Amino acid sequence: MSEKLHPVPQEWATRAHVDAAKYDADYARSIQDPDGFWGEVGKRLNWITPFTKVKNVSYAPGNVSIKWYEDGALNVAANCVDRHLATRGDQVAILWEGDDPKDSKAITYRELHEQVCRFANALKSRGVKKGDRVTIYLPMIPEAAYAMLACARIGAVHSIVFGGFSPDSLASRIEGCASKVVITADEGLRGGRKVPLKANTDAAIAKVGGVDTVFVVTRTGADVAWTEGRDIRYEDAVAEASPEHEPEAMNAEDPLFILYTSGSTGQPKGVLHTTGGYLVYASYTHQLIFDYHDGDIYWCTADVGWVTGHSYIVYGPLANGATTLMFEGVPNYPSTSRFWEVVDKHKVNIFYTAPTAIRALMGGGEEPVKKTSRASLRLLGSVGEPINPEAWEWYYRVVGDSRCPIVDTWWQTETGGILITPLPGATDLKPGSATKPFFGVKPELVDAEGKVLEGAAEGNLVIADSWPGQMRTVYGDHKRFEDTYFSTYPNKYFTGDGCRRDADGYYWITGRVDDVINVSGHRMGTAEVESSLVAHEKVAEAAVVGYPHDVKGQGIYAYVTLNSGVEGDDALRKELVAWVRKDIGPIAAPDLIQFAPGLPKTRSGKIMRRILRKIAEDDFGALGDTSTLADPGVVEDLIDQRQNKA
Ligand code: WT7
Repeated sequence: MSEKLHPVPQEWATRAHVDAAKYDADYARSIQDPDGFWGEVGKRLNWITPFTKVKNVSYAPGNVSIKWYEDGALNVAANCVDRHLATRGDQVAILWEGDDPKDSKAITYRELHEQVCRFANALKSRGVKKGDRVTIYLPMIPEAAYAMLACARIGAVHSIVFGGFSPDSLASRIEGCASKVVITADEGLRGGRKVPLKANTDAAIAKVGGVDTVFVVTRTGADVAWTEGRDIRYEDAVAEASPEHEPEAMNAEDPLFILYTSGSTGQPKGVLHTTGGYLVYASYTHQLIFDYHDGDIYWCTADVGWVTGHSYIVYGPLANGATTLMFEGVPNYPSTSRFWEVVDKHKVNIFYTAPTAIRALMGGGEEPVKKTSRASLRLLGSVGEPINPEAWEWYYRVVGDSRCPIVDTWWQTETGGILITPLPGATDLKPGSATKPFFGVKPELVDAEGKVLEGAAEGNLVIADSWPGQMRTVYGDHKRFEDTYFSTYPNKYFTGDGCRRDADGYYWITGRVDDVINVSGHRMGTAEVESSLVAHEKVAEAAVVGYPHDVKGQGIYAYVTLNSGVEGDDALRKELVAWVRKDIGPIAAPDLIQFAPGLPKTRSGKIMRRILRKIAEDDFGALGDTSTLADPGVVEDLIDQRQNKA
């Protein structure tokens, strides 16, 4: 753990939106007077009906209810597009960089407006109305942003499914929110490879049914199967539609989107975000944390299939009238200089990526970075998992030429926006620490019994009060929302993360404390991978844990017990990896499979994952209390086997 300090450069303290004194004053006010504070911040949006109430929140057990700006009405698309037309109609809104470096285009706010209006009308002409759910399964192309904003414009609720998910995963997400409409593309293109999105969509719909309309964007022009009456070419639909559309007035608490995310148990949860508070929070955090100023070119490398893409590629930046870069490709295609070549090509000022990408690029050495200029860069950001100090220093020194502050931003799909982060003009940086809470955010550390820990301490991270961007419910299952987030520590939001606070009040996220693992900055529930494995005919039982992985942060380690008579060998390992890839998607593929004749269980039959985690980490000396094991011999066998493998 590094305790090196990078003080705020003078130039930053002077020019940034927030300096240290303002941070202290505004933070104090935001906690003491949330209504006053967020009431003022809320005015940054254009409201059709101004709000008169600000915060109305209860975290009380059995009665969790979260409302912000509840009597206001607004439209998200109007805030992200229409209101900029008078002042910046000809400014670039979306700078799109294709998978192939020869492919790029710039879409101005005026063009964005026309595209969004046309597609909003196309959706309406297929009967989509306010409150209907629309599933989006697209690659990183501008149409993904058009589709999101068109839904927001007519009040439909979008649910984006990451293009790397399998037909089965797509099917369960279509079914989970009963979408009748899917928006996809013929194929996606990533790193020169094609992804059969339309074929996957067809397979998903064949499984769940209920979909009456599929809009298909032409990306590669591939010949794809076509269901007459159901499938519509996106280009035809928008060409026929009117370029004028009056945005729907939405209540601040009307749903904006659903995004499925993995938890420690069961199927992924549909995280529901609403309209007013979400957009206030996404836009305000984007402006202050990235210190966005007019004219800046901002690039977040995430995919719109994750929350980072929602809040910090599309909604936050566009609400601020920013130029947001959208990248279709991957960091190592056609070469490992790609990120930096894109930075130079588009003169990117603010660059936001994940530690896993940094670590992967670190492996290739400094040359692919140093041969590019990167002179336009001013600020760097990190998100998705703890950034180890070595990766932080490399990012700072090699990518940023020791000139650009790094904002290590901690947040979650559930939080809608960043909660713990440096502000570049206000916060001295410590590599590896997400530093301090953003305005209005009240983090606390609690022990297993829920006792609040003061001062320097380590415990479970909870947030003691609401902020406008917080999720409102699990779609269709409010009880699951309360059980997951508000029952472990009553009257507090439980994040699922462990955390340490140092003597300076800096927060250091230590990782998940539940059965969720973080693979390359993406969340995976161990239960999901386990249920996929046990669905294989040769598998009797499976237990999945995370283990430290140099590039991915955590890798997926699967202990698999085979049915009697089945021999475990490398061919079967490959078969099981391919099985999970196909079942859930490549991000769920196990990195290591250990065939286990038996799993360590308590006498009541519960698998002791704590022990499996230690074995996967090669930490055999620290197994902890094993006295409740039904058969201690199982553990010795697993350790022997693991050591023989190593
Ligand atoms: C989990 C949330 C938030 C967008 C991307 C991931 C981990 C996220 C950090 C960070 C340490 C981090 C946490 C969190 N995480 N950012 N800066 N430092 N850990 O969203 O898929 O909802 O995952 O990612 O464990 O709980 P997500």
